[in-house]
Amino acid sequence: MKIAIGCDHGGYELKTKIVKYLEDHGYRYSDFGCSSSTKSVDYPDIAFPVAEAVASGKYDRGILVCGTGIGVSICANRVKGVRCALCSDPVSAELTRKHNDSNVLALGGRIIGSKVAEAIVSKWLSTEFEGGRHERRLTKIAGYTPGSYSGPDSSSGGFGSHGGSHSSGSSHHSIHSSSGLHGSRSGAHSHHSGGSGHDGSSSK
Ligand code: RB5
Repeated sequence: MKIAIGCDHGGYELKTKIVKYLEDHGYRYSDFGCSSSTKSVDYPDIAFPVAEAVASGKYDRGILVCGTGIGVSICANRVKGVRCALCSDPVSAELTRKHNDSNVLALGGRIIGSKVAEAIVSKWLSTEFEGGRHERRLTKIAGYTPGSYSGPDSSSGGFGSHGGSHSSGSSHHSIHSSSGLHGSRSGAHSHHSGGSGHDGSSSK
């Protein structure tokens, strides 16, 4: 497995720990920078090259670190073919491999400690994609282009009895705010069927 790794200044310290982890465990990697925690670097300048290196197939996986992990994950997820997961715990790291087949991992250098980061990286690198029903969902993501989403198909079972049904691609769902103002977003769902909100390792 070939890994592309990169960071901005906010992620530099944590990246050095992860690089050591990769070396200690025999992983092949290329460091896309940066090389200092004091010289400011714009995270898109690191995140896009790492994400493109993975999308092109030159690298199997990418690891990106910035202060929060959020900036690099936003960038990486704009690159077609990249499924970037921002993780702050090993359970999410395991489930995003099993369910999302994530190929880029984002970490927040100012959010998590190095031992937690190592546990996340270890799980993420060693867990296989489960396929099955998750494959169908990834196919939907891969096939999406702006404006192309037209609602659930029969294979996914719809939204259940109280979910908003889509009609001819022009559905609007109200978003209720505490101020009493109502906004609406095309294609946004203000509630979900099914309850607990915690997928865990269940069979959903
Ligand atoms: C850099 O100060 C910081 O904004 C960056 O590392 C990251 O947290 C952005 O999402």
